[in-house]
Amino acid sequence: MSEKTPYLDIPGEKSRALLARRQEFVARGVGSAMDVFAAKADGAIIEDVDGNRYIDFAGGIGTMNVGHARPEVTRAIAEQAAKFTHTCFSVMMYEPYVELAERIVNLAPGDFPKKAIFFNSGAEAVENAVKIARYATGRPAIISFDNAFHGRTLMTMTMTSKVKPYKHRFGPFAPEVYQAPFPYAYRLDMTPQEASDYCIAELESMFVGEVAPDQVAAVIIEPVQGEGGFIVAPPGFLSALKEVCHKYGILFVADEIQSGFCRTGRMFAVEHDGVEPDMIIIAKSMGAGMPISGVVGRAEIMDAPLPGMLGGTYSGNPVACAAANAVLDLYEREDMAARSREIGLVVTDRFLKFQELFAFVGDVRGLGGMVAMELVKDRTTKEPDSHAASDILETAHHHGLVLIKAGIYDNVIRVLVPLCVTDEQLRQGLDILEMTCAMVAQVADATTTV
Ligand SMILES: Cc1ncc(COP(=O)(O)O)c(C=O)c1O
Repeated sequence: MSEKTPYLDIPGEKSRALLARRQEFVARGVGSAMDVFAAKADGAIIEDVDGNRYIDFAGGIGTMNVGHARPEVTRAIAEQAAKFTHTCFSVMMYEPYVELAERIVNLAPGDFPKKAIFFNSGAEAVENAVKIARYATGRPAIISFDNAFHGRTLMTMTMTSKVKPYKHRFGPFAPEVYQAPFPYAYRLDMTPQEASDYCIAELESMFVGEVAPDQVAAVIIEPVQGEGGFIVAPPGFLSALKEVCHKYGILFVADEIQSGFCRTGRMFAVEHDGVEPDMIIIAKSMGAGMPISGVVGRAEIMDAPLPGMLGGTYSGNPVACAAANAVLDLYEREDMAARSREIGLVVTDRFLKFQELFAFVGDVRGLGGMVAMELVKDRTTKEPDSHAASDILETAHHHGLVLIKAGIYDNVIRVLVPLCVTDEQLRQGLDILEMTCAMVAQVADATTTV
């Protein structure tokens, strides 16, 4: 093991030089999980400027489901860039946008007429879903959930849960946003079914105590909360939620920015529950790192805003659309949803083993290839252990594994490995993680035989 995963003395010389320039010229508000700089990447491997190689378990925070530098995608980008890089769809239209809309409409669940529209970032797509929902319903209020993450713009930051670093001193926030409890069974100390029933009941109480349901335009939910710590909505919760929405004429909107595009073992996570959202918000792994996002939904809702009410200078940029079309080909051709399910089984199996070995692994959870473990100081009190998580990350980085955290308490280790990862790379990455956990457990004297 130690031979295969030598200790990397990072940041290396070239990274250190770049770091000095970064510190001088780049605003510190943009954080970086690692102190190294990428030189190139291929599949599930990234190489830094000093030649250190890493297995990538972060996938650009879930943008790289198809893998880095896939020739099919880079070729599509180069070919489109050579033709033209931009006309602005609001000025002169182009085919890649229409092709992408047609394909996304056909992929989104629901046997009813649908339409799609594209933007640049995830937050921008969420903002636009809110605009569309408000315009279509004539209602002002939006309901999001505890632990949610929807972005860093004013509206999406308001809909987001974690105070630091996302909201602290960035107020005042947008009005008419209400937060309902999410069925986080582990922290609610409930079975998934109990958590689900409890949250539906709480939502109904919100309609009495906080906001009249006839004022609510949309409920916007992540089927698997991403930044919140890979908290999976229990089976049946999304359908129950959709029923409540239907009863009050509220739109049911799924934010699949992190959970979409095969990450959970289906094209969209809502498919596990057989739910057909009124709108789905997409981004991240639709473009293999190119800035593209979108909203797809029922045609009559999507068509509510009049021409000119939606859009943006770069929205649905032709190069990004070409990349996304190539990415969709790969999902289909390589059945990446099936691969995600396989990866999920392997990772879950190992994480459950970690839970037996290391006392700080409090919970293991996930859906398909979207798997995480939540670290605690004590399994009874469930006191979050963000220090163990930070130590594991740092040690893993030094052994050639790109790893990131999540969770409202910063104590969740999550896996967003590109789905093209080989079995050997996956095993190696998990071996590094096990070794890392063992080292951190030893230091904390936390090893146990539970
Ligand atoms: C579920 C979800 N919604 C919205 C966003 C915001 O996307 P972006 O960072 O592209 O604005 C993210 C980003 O992590 C996300 O995971």
